[in-house]
Amino acid sequence: MRLAVLASGNGSNFEAIAQAVKAGDISAEIVLLFSDHRDAYVLERAKNNNIPAEAFELKEFENKKAYEAALLELLAEHQVDLIVLAGYMRIIGEGLLEAYPNRIVNIHPALLPNFPGLHGIKDAFEAKVTETGVTVHYIDSGVDTGPIIAQEAVAVDSEETLEQLEEKIHQVEHQLYPRVIAEIVKETSK
Ligand code: GAR
Repeated sequence: MRLAVLASGNGSNFEAIAQAVKAGDISAEIVLLFSDHRDAYVLERAKNNNIPAEAFELKEFENKKAYEAALLELLAEHQVDLIVLAGYMRIIGEGLLEAYPNRIVNIHPALLPNFPGLHGIKDAFEAKVTETGVTVHYIDSGVDTGPIIAQEAVAVDSEETLEQLEEKIHQVEHQLYPRVIAEIVKETSK
C-alpha cells in the first residue's frame, strides 16, 4: 500500500510514522510527503528519511480549487492509496474527499468532538478539563469531524503547564498514530 503524508509544520508525527514503516511495523511505503509550507521543518525530515517530498502553497494559486487540483494530480502521479494527515492545517475540499473516500485519516490532539480546530491542546488546557487526549479519525468536509477510529485519553494534572501537557499529548500521538495506521493498512490490504 502506498501512503502519502500531508503535513504543515514540524512533522513529529510524520517522523514517528516514517520510523514505524522503517521498522516494518507498518506494511506500506510512504511514497510522498507533501507540505503546504515551503519552509516547513517536515521537509527536512523527509529528506533525512529519503522520502520524496513536494511543497507548494495555496497563495501560489488563483484559488483553493486550483490548489487542490494540483495536489490531487500530485497524489495521482504517486499512485497514492491512503492519505495520512499529520498536522496538515487545512480543510480538505470536496475534490480530494471524492477521490479518496474513506481513504483520508487525520490525527487531532483532543478527545473529539471536544476541542476541534487549530489549538486542541491549548483550548482543553484553558478549559481546565481533567482529561483530554488524542483522536484518530477518517475525515469528512468539516473541521476535525468524521468517523472516529481510535481515541486515547490523557489525564491533565492540576499542577502541569501547557508545555508539559503538549509533550504528553505528542508522546501519545507518536505511539497511537503509527499503530492505527498499521491496523488500517492491514485491514484494507485484506
Ligand atoms: C499534532 O499535535 C496534531 O495532532 C495536530 O497538529 C500537530 C502537528 O504536530 N493536528 C491538528 O491540530 C489538526 N487539527 P507535528 O507537525 O509535530 O506532527
